[in-house]
Amino acid sequence: MPNTVHQFRVGGRRASDEVSHAQLRQLSAALQTIREHERTHIARELHDDTAQLLTLLRMDLALLMQNKSLAPDAIDLIEGMDKNLMGAITSVRRIARNLRPRALDEGGLYYALRALCTEFSERNGIRCGFFADEEELQLDDALSTAAYRIVQEGLTNVARHAKATEVSVSVGRSNHHLLIGIADNGKGIDPVDMEKPESLGLVGMRERVWALEGDISIGRNEESGTRIDISLPVPG
Ligand SMILES: Nc1ncnc2c1ncn2[C@@H]1O[C@H](COP(=O)(O)OP(=O)(O)OP(=O)(O)O)[C@@H](O)[C@H]1O
Ligand SMILES: [Mg+2]
Repeated sequence: MPNTVHQFRVGGRRASDEVSHAQLRQLSAALQTIREHERTHIARELHDDTAQLLTLLRMDLALLMQNKSLAPDAIDLIEGMDKNLMGAITSVRRIARNLRPRALDEGGLYYALRALCTEFSERNGIRCGFFADEEELQLDDALSTAAYRIVQEGLTNVARHAKATEVSVSVGRSNHHLLIGIADNGKGIDPVDMEKPESLGLVGMRERVWALEGDISIGRNEESGTRIDISLPVPG
């Protein structure tokens, strides 16, 4: 049976258009939440299950190595296995951390962002200044997650597009708002770049901000580079 859509004209636009836009926004927020829960779940399984099992295997290998009657070939083989296991543990931990940093659930946003900036600098050779006060970043899960994902996307963009040598991330509170600033000294964003149909990073960033009833501005820095400023209301 075909779907029946009742349409009303409101100020030149159809009411059903208005409804579907609001619904799409809700759907996007709901999908982001589900995705975050799934990432948390998979990260935990990887960290607590897979990485633990691999660690147990390393301990078994260490026991095997204590056997004095092992042939030199067998010792070489065991040492090779141990090296590979170490590599596997490191990569499982890295994948888990990228999916969902434990610091977000255990230490809080301050530590998660500090680690993100340090890792970003090491990996990309771009200096990353992090300016925040630990006490100001004791926030609920929704806000912490949104702030973390926003900064993560901002930094990924700096690494991929900006050709910058330096970026600063500042996060702090003022008048019941969380203020996030990400500024780089690269080539600067072009307004047309923000409308690329295939690009979803900035769209996702805006959706996160709007879902929390915040404000976002993306533009060029006065001197050079790109600057993103976000303000999110802090509940309570
Ligand atoms: N810091 C920046 N400096 C210069 N240009 C930028 C910067 N951030 C974004 N851009 C430009 O804006 C465009 C849109 O960014 P956006 O994050 O939405 O998409 P993307 O990074 O291209 O792809 P993805 O969907 O994987 O994020 C980029 O393709 C790039 O041209
Ligand atoms: Mg992007």
